Order: sequence, then C-alpha cells, then structure tokens
Amino acid sequence: MKRRTFITMSSITALWVLTGCGGGSGGDNGMSGGGDNPSDDTPVKKGTLPIPELIKGTERSGVNHYDLNIVEAEHEFFEGVKTNTYAIDSTYLGPTLLLENGEDVSLNFSNRLQEETTMHGHGMHVPGNMDGTAHQPIAVGATWSAQYSVDQNACTNWYHPHYMHKTAPHVYQGLAGMIIIEDDEIKALDLPNRYGIDDIPLVLQDRFFSADKTRLDYSPSTMELRMGYVGNVFIANGAINPTFEAEDKEIRFRVLNGSNSTVYDLGFSNDIVFKQIGGDNSLLESPVSMSRLVLSPGERAEIVVDLTDEKGSSFTLHEYRNDQTFLTINVSNDATEFTAVPSTLAALEPVDASLAVRTRPFTLEMTGGIFTINRREMDMMFINETVPLGDVEIWDVTNKMGMDHNFHIHATHFRVIERNGSAANVRNNEKGYKDVVYLQGNERVKLLVKMTDYTTDASAPYMYHCHFLEHEDNGMMGQFIVV
Ligand code: C2O
Ligand code: CU
Ligand code: CU
Repeated sequence: MKRRTFITMSSITALWVLTGCGGGSGGDNGMSGGGDNPSDDTPVKKGTLPIPELIKGTERSGVNHYDLNIVEAEHEFFEGVKTNTYAIDSTYLGPTLLLENGEDVSLNFSNRLQEETTMHGHGMHVPGNMDGTAHQPIAVGATWSAQYSVDQNACTNWYHPHYMHKTAPHVYQGLAGMIIIEDDEIKALDLPNRYGIDDIPLVLQDRFFSADKTRLDYSPSTMELRMGYVGNVFIANGAINPTFEAEDKEIRFRVLNGSNSTVYDLGFSNDIVFKQIGGDNSLLESPVSMSRLVLSPGERAEIVVDLTDEKGSSFTLHEYRNDQTFLTINVSNDATEFTAVPSTLAALEPVDASLAVRTRPFTLEMTGGIFTINRREMDMMFINETVPLGDVEIWDVTNKMGMDHNFHIHATHFRVIERNGSAANVRNNEKGYKDVVYLQGNERVKLLVKMTDYTTDASAPYMYHCHFLEHEDNGMMGQFIVV
C-alpha cells in the first residue's frame, strides 16, 4: 500500500498519512496520524513567488515567432533537493506567452524529451490542425508549429500537452504555461496590468513526490484514477507556499487551476472580499464580488484584490476543501501607480437560446467500468459529432455520476444558459464566455455553442472532454468535426 504524508504549510514536519485505496484497503481516503517516512521533514525551499517569464515573440516576416523548447529539467521544490521535471524553457512549467488579438503568430515547440508529446492551446480559437491534440504529435527531436492569426478577445488561456492516454502524466511532470491575450478594449480599461507587479499569473497545482523528493510521483491507484489524484503538496507557479510582496493597491491575479483533478475552493485567510473580472475566455460584463472562488481543473479566473488599506498585513491564499495554503501575501510595498476596476468591463452578446437550431445531448457516465461520454470511450479513429459551421446549438451536458466532472470544448467558447434546469442557477461568475464548465455529481448544464471560422475534417478533429486529466486519459473524451 502506498503511504503518503500530508504536508501542511504551517508545520512542514508531517502529519497525516493518506492511505491510498488502491491496495484493497477500502474506499475512503482515511487519514490517520503518523508520518514515519524519513524524508517527511525535508524543508521546502523558501522564497518568493516565481513569476514565469513573459514572452512576446520575435517578428520574422510579419509573423511573431515564439521559439519554445520542451525539455527535461531539475527543479528545486525542497531545499537542496533536485526534483526531475519536464518544463518549457524553464525548470518547471513554461513562460507566459503574450498574444495580441489580430496578430499572426507561430508557436514553435521543439520536443527535446525522450518521448513524444503534443502542445495544445487551451481556450485558443484556431484551425483543427493547429490545435495541438493527439492528432498533431511532436516526435522526439522535432519541432511543431501552431500558426494562426489570433482572433479572440482578451483573456487568460494556457498551453499543455494533449497526448493520447498521457496528458495527465505529462502535465504532472511540469508541462503547462499561461497564454495572455490582449486586445484594444482591455487596454482601455483601468485594470492592473503590470506583469509580475500588480498583474500576477498563478498556476495552482498539487503534487505527490517520491519519498526522496527527486521525482514527481504520478502513480494513481484505480481508486485515485476515479476519485481524483489529489496530491499532498500544493504549489503555486511551481513553489511550495512562496511569498508575494504586494504593493498596497489593487492586485490582479490570473488564477489557473492547473491541477490534474482537484477542484479548488479558494479564498484568502483574512476573508477579504475580491472581485472576479474575467472567466475562461472573456471579461465578465461587470465585476462579481466574492470571498470564495471555486475552480475546477482547466478553469481560469481573473480576480482583483484591493489591498489599498492593507499595508503591513500578511495573509494567505488558502484552499478550503483540502485545507492547504498556496501562497502567502505580504502587503509590504508602496503603490507606485494606482488603478480602479471599472464597474462595467465588457459588453457581451446577449444570450439568446431561441437561436439554437438543435440540441446535442452529452452524458458523462461510467460504462463497463470505463469513463465514457454518451456511453462511448474516446477513440482517435472515431468522430463522435459533426457540427455545421455557424449553427447555434445547445450542448446539453448531464453528469450521470455522483462524482464531480467538468466539460471542456475545443475551438470555441460558450455561454452557460442553464444549470440544473434553470437559468437562475447559472452563477454570476460563469456568465462570460467559457470553455470549461464544472458539474458536481448529478448536475446538468446547457451550453450555447457556435462553431465559427474554421471547418476541419477527420484528420484533425477537435475534442470535448472532462478536464479531470485522469478521466480524460481514461476514456471521457470525444471528437467532433466542423463542416
Ligand atoms: Cu485543456 Cu482538450 O484541453
Ligand atoms: Cu482545450
Ligand atoms: Cu471527469
């Protein structure tokens, strides 16, 4: 049986033993006291929040090129211990790519690993053959380029591998990075936008480590594949409870749930109220005030926390489901520039379900012990859905299981128009354009979907899937073409 030590950030020396349930020990992740693993008191590396490098690309004949290397690396999560990782021009994760609406880009990914992988632009509205799915593998030693003209509004997207059956382990080793898309509209708003100062990327994840901490331990049991592979070390931008020295002003966090299968219930330890200004694929029409933010795997939220009157205070970004700390924030610096989040952020198209010409049902369920959608397991040679270009459709997604799932659609963004039978149940912070929607056990959502601009054939289909990576890798995914 696997023995795992739950690390709490306040006292790193060890505390809970999470009993893996794959070894016949029953179904609950029962916790009991203990901690007899000799490396349990390995001190974490202390330090400030790492900010991934912001890359703008290099212009070559009218196209902005982003030259990126996918590499094997070593990263210091724990003091003096080198952990083997995968990364993109870094030692864990990759740089943040800054893209401008309307620009022509070429994201050139060179695979310097010893195995094939892929690189998908999550949330990107691109042609099927530029999507970076399992149909566009990057051979060892090869370079694959995603070339397109950026054609979407300002938002926070991300990139990560999408290799058949191996998305989860590849992401787990460190392959993920953020994409920031800017447009003229967002630049006109008085939002914090000094990257690394008051505009902060936050890639939130959780991981298990091998006992000697030299490896990230991706070895889910059957039960963990189903219930979620929730690690015992929570990390922000690849660091364990780092500190962020903030100016006493509005601070914007671009929060990405980059975990494999953990739903995060986030809030600040001082219960400060913050504003969500953007969701997966767009700004919200107006800021939504909240003190807790639930994000399922793959979802993003841009939030603004006003620290103007907080000089000298110190608090943490906490995850309340698992009682873990992601980040400590010290309000230690004087503001050098002020911002004021406007009360109106964007004018989104009105949601009009009567425009829909058909409804497409999707059921998330277990079929013969396998994760399926509409009772079919993912098959790269099978096209599950054919969607006419330009048609407005309702995608009616039902979670037939008691456990959590979510639903992600490639190529497009959607509006959530109903949750559990009523528009009134759609949360205020999910009323922008989204590409992932969270479904708790037995929930049902209706999405207003429209495929635009790009048709694609069976050689480069798009995908929809549960973004709990263990579920995605084990069947809960389907393919569609646009005609
Ligand atoms: Cu985040 Cu199919 O991807
Ligand atoms: Cu995606
Ligand atoms: Cu799932």
